[in-house]
Amino acid sequence: MDPWLKLSVLVFMWFSFNSQLSLGADTISANRSLSGNQTIVSSGGNFVLGFFKPGNSSNQYIGIWYGNKVTQQTVVWVANREIPVRDTQSSELKISDGNLVLFNESKVPIWSTNISSSSSSSVVAVLEDSGNLVLRDGPNSTTPLWQSLDHPTHTWLPGGKISLNKRTNQSQLLISWKNSEDPAPGLFSLELDPEGTNQYLILWNRTIQYWTSGAWDEQARIFTLVPEMRLNYIYNFSFYSDENESYFTYSLYNPDTISRFVMDISGQIKQLSWLEGSKEWNLFWSQPRQQCQVYAYCGAFGSCTEGGLPFCNCLRGFHQKSQSAWNLSDFSDGCERTTKLQCKENRTLTNGKPDKFLTSPNVKLPQNAQPVTATSISECESTCLQNCSCTAYAYDSDGCRIWIGQLLDLQQLADDASDGKTLYLRLAASEFSSSSNNNGIIIGAAAGSVSLVLVLVIFGIWRWRRRTTINPKAVDGSLLAFGYRDLQSATKNFSEKLGGGGFGSVFKGTLPDSSVIAVKQLESINQGEKQFRTEVSTIGTIQHVNLVRLRGFCSEGIRKLLVYDYMPNGSLDAHLFHEEKSKALTWKTRYQIALGTARGLAYLHEKCRDCIIHCDIKPENILLDAELCPKVADFGLAKLIGRDFSRVLTTMRGTRGYLAPEWISGVPVTAKADVYSYGMMLFEFVSGRRNSEQSEDGKVRFFPTLAASVMTQDDDVLTLLDPQLNGDAPEEELSRICKVACWCVQDDETRRPSMGQVVQILEGVLDVNLPPIPRFLQVLGDNSEHVVFFTESSSNQSSQTPSYTSTASSQAKSNTSSMSS
Ligand SMILES: *[C@@H]1O[C@H](CO)[C@@H](O)[C@H](O)[C@H]1NC(C)=O
Ligand SMILES: *[C@@H]1O[C@H](CO)[C@@H](O)[C@H](O)[C@H]1NC(C)=O
Ligand SMILES: *[C@@H]1O[C@H](CO)[C@@H](O)[C@H](O)[C@H]1NC(C)=O
Ligand SMILES: *[C@@H]1O[C@H](CO)[C@@H](O)[C@H](O)[C@H]1NC(C)=O
Ligand SMILES: *[C@@H]1O[C@H](CO)[C@@H](O)[C@H](O)[C@H]1NC(C)=O
Ligand SMILES: *[C@@H]1O[C@H](CO)[C@@H](O)[C@H](O)[C@H]1NC(C)=O
Ligand SMILES: *[C@@H]1O[C@H](CO)[C@@H](O)[C@H](O)[C@H]1NC(C)=O
Ligand SMILES: *[C@@H]1O[C@H](CO)[C@@H](O)[C@H](O)[C@H]1NC(C)=O
Ligand SMILES: *[C@@H]1O[C@H](CO)[C@@H](O)[C@H](O)[C@H]1NC(C)=O
Ligand SMILES: *[C@@H]1O[C@H](CO)[C@@H](O)[C@H](O)[C@H]1NC(C)=O
Ligand SMILES: *[C@@H]1O[C@H](CO)[C@@H](O)[C@H](O)[C@H]1NC(C)=O
Ligand SMILES: *[C@@H]1O[C@H](CO)[C@@H](O)[C@H](O)[C@H]1NC(C)=O
Repeated sequence: MDPWLKLSVLVFMWFSFNSQLSLGADTISANRSLSGNQTIVSSGGNFVLGFFKPGNSSNQYIGIWYGNKVTQQTVVWVANREIPVRDTQSSELKISDGNLVLFNESKVPIWSTNISSSSSSSVVAVLEDSGNLVLRDGPNSTTPLWQSLDHPTHTWLPGGKISLNKRTNQSQLLISWKNSEDPAPGLFSLELDPEGTNQYLILWNRTIQYWTSGAWDEQARIFTLVPEMRLNYIYNFSFYSDENESYFTYSLYNPDTISRFVMDISGQIKQLSWLEGSKEWNLFWSQPRQQCQVYAYCGAFGSCTEGGLPFCNCLRGFHQKSQSAWNLSDFSDGCERTTKLQCKENRTLTNGKPDKFLTSPNVKLPQNAQPVTATSISECESTCLQNCSCTAYAYDSDGCRIWIGQLLDLQQLADDASDGKTLYLRLAASEFSSSSNNNGIIIGAAAGSVSLVLVLVIFGIWRWRRRTTINPKAVDGSLLAFGYRDLQSATKNFSEKLGGGGFGSVFKGTLPDSSVIAVKQLESINQGEKQFRTEVSTIGTIQHVNLVRLRGFCSEGIRKLLVYDYMPNGSLDAHLFHEEKSKALTWKTRYQIALGTARGLAYLHEKCRDCIIHCDIKPENILLDAELCPKVADFGLAKLIGRDFSRVLTTMRGTRGYLAPEWISGVPVTAKADVYSYGMMLFEFVSGRRNSEQSEDGKVRFFPTLAASVMTQDDDVLTLLDPQLNGDAPEEELSRICKVACWCVQDDETRRPSMGQVVQILEGVLDVNLPPIPRFLQVLGDNSEHVVFFTESSSNQSSQTPSYTSTASSQAKSNTSSMSS
């Protein structure tokens, strides 16, 4: 027997065995209650309800989790969030007085659906395949008395509502778990604006807002501050409002997708989809993007550092209040003082010295500062000293401010951050003399021996001089290893920013030999030094006229930078999308850029030792040299960033429209994902606009759909051309580009051409057939029979032409393959 078949039979047997053990049904009725390890399973097996134990906790809760398809237990709803039980055998979930009620070990009701029903004995609770637990008056009743979708906990499932009851001002909201082992309500919540506007807020402790979706735009069907929703083809959001309530709900365009929104313990709202292939959840989107944007994530006297792990640390002089909570990523308790302040009211010090202030540079200051009038820093300091509740002060161009009590939402910024401020943190004097801190060695040396200090100073100067004067070392042939200081001075301390992206910002710089460079500061690299160098030197060996050349790199601790040739004409988006007619790229240039980009990608896919998938093809990543020759940038970064890449990618603004559907569908991503993105970009070459751009009447006008319909209806392709070109383009080339684009964005990746084939089509070596309209662009009938996308050109036969047959060719009819243009 085929081992896979055997395994699936075993799995099937296990599941049927399991459901026999449980009630074998989806219903809790007057006759059927739930206790111990019994569960009920929805009719299609999608969801299970029963007792569960989160992580290593010994507490038990009634919850709903995904059924057989999702192999990691993933809880989507919890009944008794705050009141766990210990012994499930003697606890019971049952119908009682017309409600579904959970009784604890001593038969005391600890949770109830709490409706005042007619207490009919026919009331049943049914777990539906949508994950909704519905209380009904009799199994055939259609109106639910109560349903779990209306009472979400931390997860928002399709069909669920995040609502505001306008009569009572009560919200149905998502509240995060306290930590991974405790489903009790945490500090972070997603809710509708209680003021009645149609936007979502994420709040801390139900009070402080740190993220908003922006208002719902009914016409575009997006939230205004979530523009990446524009090209979303997974979720169908809708907003409803009347005098009694308003709510958002959503459905999935493809009901087979397994997907959920979670208010996570990280304080971020996360959208995840289940990857069938790798059997794991794929984070598709999250907000706020940066962990440290979550208000007070690290708790009182905690400090958040973006980019480094762990995110949270205690300020100096403080330690974790609850190490076990911190171990579970629950930082909300924050930190507490290690040594008590000496401050006494009336400034009569009984013992010890007055408190001192620790200078903490480059921080984002906590909120709730109290402004104080002070003309000097010492006056500011003494104001703080006189108040025993004052914990810190700041004095800069904004004047003097002091903080009373806890410091919340403090953030440690990078050394070169431009918006960093200095905080003076009050600590007991003894914290400064203790040698257990980082500066201990230097303090000790200063106290001990002046000559040692001198040696240190001289050594420091020598090191500094060495770093600023010595040239970068060449490694692996042409690749240069730069010191951080070299790049700091080359870029005038990172002063001229060329752009920013998901991987980090790019700065212009000049080397001593006056060659101009672009320096990319990488973010979120969690790779070891050796692996980083290996990857970088691999990228360094890839050279092609249509690829941006990597000149060198810098790797000092967490500082990872890449040094590229500078491209004087910047990125393609600036040339393609602008209003000035005189600067519009001519059709000829556009065609050359399309061809050059295809050649660069074909080289990455087919000519390198290992196929390199770019993963982020978009106009921003196509750079133009002085002659407007295109160069693909940022290749190889996918591997460099590693597993986190899809997170970076999918949370990036302006990337979504170019992402192939397989990024979320779970099948492994291949080079054909780049082909898809390239196709999306080709449409923009034609229209001179973003595919996602709105037309004047406010409706989303999705250009690829328009292009596909014009082509298949044999309408005039010149109507598709960027109006800035006044129709100045050969119709044949225009039609060729449109067809290639449409082939490239086929839903089924096996139907998409390879980049090498795209090059040949654009070179005129191959002719291209009329493409079928991809499912997501479909506006006309089903054209699925046209599955062969080219025939060899009769005009330009080439013996090197690969003979291509689509793997979908079993459906192909030979008569459709002769439709050459
Ligand atoms: C409950 O059980 C009793 C007796 O076993 C039966 O008469 C009744 O129909 C059952 N009710 C339900 C709702 O299944
Ligand atoms: C359920 O609990 C019973 C009694 O404790 C035990 O015998 C049985 O093995 C358990 N079943 C499973 C699937 O854990
Ligand atoms: C439970 O604890 C063990 C050891 O302490 C640990 O390895 C494991 O990851 C924990 N499991 C969960 C789900 O936290
Ligand atoms: C059951 O709940 C009641 C009320 O909350 C509580 O007093 C009692 O101690 C609980 N029983 C057990 C065994 O925990
Ligand atoms: C049910 O209602 C009672 C009284 O109105 C309240 O004390 C209790 O907390 C409610 N329980 C739940 C689970 O909402
Ligand atoms: C519910 O509907 C089923 C099938 O439609 C029917 O057989 C059954 O008798 C109905 N039950 C009640 C209580 O009406
Ligand atoms: C609900 O909130 C709105 C706006 O905050 C307020 O005007 C209104 O009076 C509140 N209604 C109730 C019933 O509390
Ligand atoms: C959250 O707010 C409540 C009052 O609404 C307050 O008692 C509590 O201390 C706050 N929690 C934190 C962690 O500050
Ligand atoms: C999206 O949802 C709305 C409201 O539920 C519905 O009317 C509409 O048909 C849905 N659109 C699609 C394409 O499923
Ligand atoms: C709002 O609630 C009132 C009272 O429950 C009801 O009469 C009215 O029909 C409701 N309005 C809508 C639009 O459902
Ligand atoms: C927290 O984790 C650290 C290291 O993982 C461990 O040494 C420590 O015992 C843990 N503390 C608690 C209270 O769980
Ligand atoms: C500070 O001094 C005033 C008057 O000298 C006295 O009334 C007050 O109790 C003192 N406060 C403390 C905390 O000792």
